[in-house]
Parts: sequence; C-alpha cells; structure tokens
Amino acid sequence: MENMEGPRVTDCERCPALVESRSRIVNGVGPEDADLLIVGEAPGEQEDREGEPFVGRSGTQLDEKLREHGIAREDVRITNCVRCRPPENRDPTKEELENCRGYLEREIELIDPELVMTVGKVPTEHLLERDVAVTKEAGSVAEHRIGGVARKVLISVHPAAMLYDRSQEATLDSTIEEAAALIGAERSDQSRLDSY
Ligand code: URA
Repeated sequence: MENMEGPRVTDCERCPALVESRSRIVNGVGPEDADLLIVGEAPGEQEDREGEPFVGRSGTQLDEKLREHGIAREDVRITNCVRCRPPENRDPTKEELENCRGYLEREIELIDPELVMTVGKVPTEHLLERDVAVTKEAGSVAEHRIGGVARKVLISVHPAAMLYDRSQEATLDSTIEEAAALIGAERSDQSRLDSY
C-alpha cells in the first residue's frame, strides 16, 4: 500500500487538522505475529510525544491489567484507529477515521491476529460498523468482516474509564481474562516469572 512499509505508515497528509496538531505519525507497536491486537482510538499527548500508542496514563492501566491476567505488553500488538493526535484530544471525526481506515485494515491483515480487542466506543463502533453500548457489550466477542476477512472482535471498555469510574474495573478485568483465555495466555507461567 502506498505510504506504508509493512504495517507502518511512513507519511500521510490526508487530514489537514491532524497534520497541524500532530508532532508525528504514531504507528502500532508489538510483534508482527502477535495473537492479540489491541485497537485504541487515537494518540494522546504523551503518545504523540513518544511516538508509541498507549504510553500515557491509560497505557499504564492497560499494561497492568494485561499483566494481571498473564499477558505481557511486549507480546501484544497495539495500535489506534487514527495515527495522528487530534487537537485538544477531541474525538477523531468520521472523515479522519475513514482516511485512516485503510492503514488499520492493512495492519490487521499483516498481523493476522487470533483476536482483535477494541478499547472504548470509538474503535468498537468503527470496526464493527454499528452503534455499540460498550459498557453493556464489554466482554462479548463479535464476529465481523474486516477488510474482507472474518475476525473475532472482543469489545472492551477503555482503560481510562477505570480512572473516573471504579465500577468499570471489574468489567475490564473480566474482558481481559476473556482475551487471555481466547489467545491461550498462560497465567500460571506469568505468575511464576513474576515471583523471581
Ligand atoms: N487512548 C487511546 O485510545 N489510544 C492511545 O494510544 C492512548 C490512549
């Protein structure tokens, strides 16, 4: 695909407002053969600064939750629907999401994960192409065709939701537990490693 090297977008100027607000394009990170691909909304301030998805506060929450359920961040591919930071962290517009969709579909095609986990409303509705009440549907797996291929999509609340509503923590816990079960992550091994 034009503008891409493997799953990485090298240059793009399709969204004038984002070209203006970003310091860089924030591509996905993690193994290209990952079993689990986590899809967020868009880079925030810290992600824009460091050039990596989920390295701010919600990233810390996410990493911790993954670890508690036996999944190491290093083993997961993490990306966003939109690769450039929107001004004042507003939601990406429909047009911006559409402009970036081909890149996301190409990344999903190349990584070919066993499971895609969408975190929050924007990525869930974007990939499933319907309205979703995320808190109600969190933890459920939808089968959906993405780029022509049937994918399993596990719906999750956004890790940042936990920061202002503790009741969402249990929902996030059970969702990530479900992800671990679906990709066969071995929690006991991880706990053993953690004790060293
Ligand atoms: N929230 C997101 O959705 N994506 C990030 O990369 C960071 C926070």
